[in-house]
Amino acid sequence: MYILAIETSCDETACAVVQNGRTVHSNVVASQIEEHGLYGGVVPEIASRRHVEQIHAVCAQALAEAGLTLEDMDAVAVTFGPGLIGALLVGLNFAKGLALRLGKPLIPVHHIKGHIAANYIAHPALTPPFMSLVVSGGHSHLIKVTSYTDFEIIGQTVDDAAGEAFDKAARQLGFPYPGGVHIDKLAPKGDKGAYTFPTPKLDKPFHFSFSGLKTAVLNLVNNAKQKGESLAIEDIAASFQEKVTQILSTTAVAACKAHGCDTLVICGGVSANSGLREKLTSLCEKEKLALYMPPLSLCGDNAAMIGAQAYYEYEKGITAPHDLNAVASLPVSKKMPFEQ
Ligand code: KG4
Ligand code: ZN
Repeated sequence: MYILAIETSCDETACAVVQNGRTVHSNVVASQIEEHGLYGGVVPEIASRRHVEQIHAVCAQALAEAGLTLEDMDAVAVTFGPGLIGALLVGLNFAKGLALRLGKPLIPVHHIKGHIAANYIAHPALTPPFMSLVVSGGHSHLIKVTSYTDFEIIGQTVDDAAGEAFDKAARQLGFPYPGGVHIDKLAPKGDKGAYTFPTPKLDKPFHFSFSGLKTAVLNLVNNAKQKGESLAIEDIAASFQEKVTQILSTTAVAACKAHGCDTLVICGGVSANSGLREKLTSLCEKEKLALYMPPLSLCGDNAAMIGAQAYYEYEKGITAPHDLNAVASLPVSKKMPFEQ
């Protein structure tokens, strides 16, 4: 089954052709990062406008690279939430139009379920159940994936997402948006023991909090500025990354053990972080857990992951009603009326 998948939930206009959930024939991503970088973060109105300008060419390129035509597609899939409402609407309406014109089903996909499914592409042997650590610019979740289409939230951030904390800390160190990758590149050059950042104390198990860490970096930089002291930013990057990745990896492994999962799957933009990947590799080896990580190319937003999840949604009988709307905020565990 060939699926043409579309993703426009944030600042990437993406389209892919995916066969039977696991084989990617093309995966085109048009990033808007440079333009949003001018403003220090994603500007929703600009994101929507760029999606409108790009989506047609991006989809045409995805079909051309796959060597297939629209008529070869068996279904169209699209991210309908969560995300920026204006941005989501561009992809959703474009996908609706295509599905209608082709007379083929439209498959609605939850963005976070797509991130998790990126691992089905990379790891043919991976099947649910497993525990998933979803770490992106907007989400930090521990999710128990009980089947391809059933998700239980085990824990989540009570304030900032991990990627948001990386980006805000990076901004204090003088890096452009999105700064996570800059911290990652700088960290190996610094001393990870140079600064001790606070470990958040939370009442709820398996939840996260990153806003205190972000504020600690801000205070460190501001105090040094006021005193006219110079700071070794590579030491801050190393110490900050050490703390965030330690929290993420120990919490994820603890959640696996508490919930009887022998497999941990990570995904989302922050799953590209080299410190997190190293820590989890050694911790999972020690704890005898199977660890699956997407290749770097499938960590960030893309449409191949949407096409992968769409296949399993369709197998379950899930298709979109004609009046499907985009949803800005949507817990992964919530069942939409068309999923009942
Ligand atoms: O999944 P994603 O592309 O978009 C969302 O759905 O949010 O994640 C983007 C986030 C940004 O905060 C970015 O700074 C972060 O992922 N990120 C990283 C790295 N690469 C991307 N954070 C830390 N280390 C990295 N190597
Ligand atoms: Zn994402």
